[in-house]
Amino acid sequence: MQIVRTISDLACLHESALVPTMGALHEGHRSLVRAAVASGRPAVVSIFVNPAQFAPGEDLDAYPRTLERDLDLCRDDGAAAVFAPEVDTVYPGDASVQTPPLPAVAASPGLEDACRPHFFQGVCRVVARLFDLVRPAEAFFGEKDWQQLRVVTEMVAAHQDRWPSLTITAHPTVREPDGLAMSSRNVYLSPSSRDRALALHRALSRASEGEPAMRRTLDAAGLTTDYAVIRDAETLLAPTADRPQRALVAASLDGTRLIDNAAVP
Ligand code: PAF
Repeated sequence: MQIVRTISDLACLHESALVPTMGALHEGHRSLVRAAVASGRPAVVSIFVNPAQFAPGEDLDAYPRTLERDLDLCRDDGAAAVFAPEVDTVYPGDASVQTPPLPAVAASPGLEDACRPHFFQGVCRVVARLFDLVRPAEAFFGEKDWQQLRVVTEMVAAHQDRWPSLTITAHPTVREPDGLAMSSRNVYLSPSSRDRALALHRALSRASEGEPAMRRTLDAAGLTTDYAVIRDAETLLAPTADRPQRALVAASLDGTRLIDNAAVP
């Protein structure tokens, strides 16, 4: 497996299957890597803790960094290369880095866009840059970050001239046996917070009873809820009966903010 740190070394990896990550890999990431390998294209995993998507006061400095272990996991899963650039490589500070305008789904739903107003600007900036540098044929994103998946899908659809043959492939959320969605931030949870965090999954399983039932489930576990909503699965605006719907929750406990989502049956 190649470990790539410079832009020039990426040249032989164009048309690959890209899995963008911020490292601290868990089973959720590994399922994306394995799907990328199964695509038959060389699988490239990018590992870059993107400062642009953290606001001052968020967990940029504390964010888990486990590069050596991540490299071992990527090797075990059959990745052809890991792209682990420095900040200056991704953001050289000149006009060559063009962040596309945000799609509506990054600014209108009042979900992550309202709770973390800097977030999608930072995600689109880094993902657009990674697509320009790696020039993959396919890129894999987890459904756990549903709004992010929708934002990236819409961004690529709106810029066919920039990424003409790039496909975005979604992969289902990977959960612990008790239902907790895998997340790099789960390492922040103490054993007792981890038990309470299961309320997110329980809230989603009550989505067919409506938003108040979801919110009550989070309240009962003592979580601070940012949102517990049912939305149109694509636009993330108000749902209509004739289109697929998605339940989405975001809540904090003991200083850790978690998100999760599920299809509404
Ligand atoms: O989902 C993530 O880990 C990040 O937001 C991403 C897509 C790798 C961009 O930094």
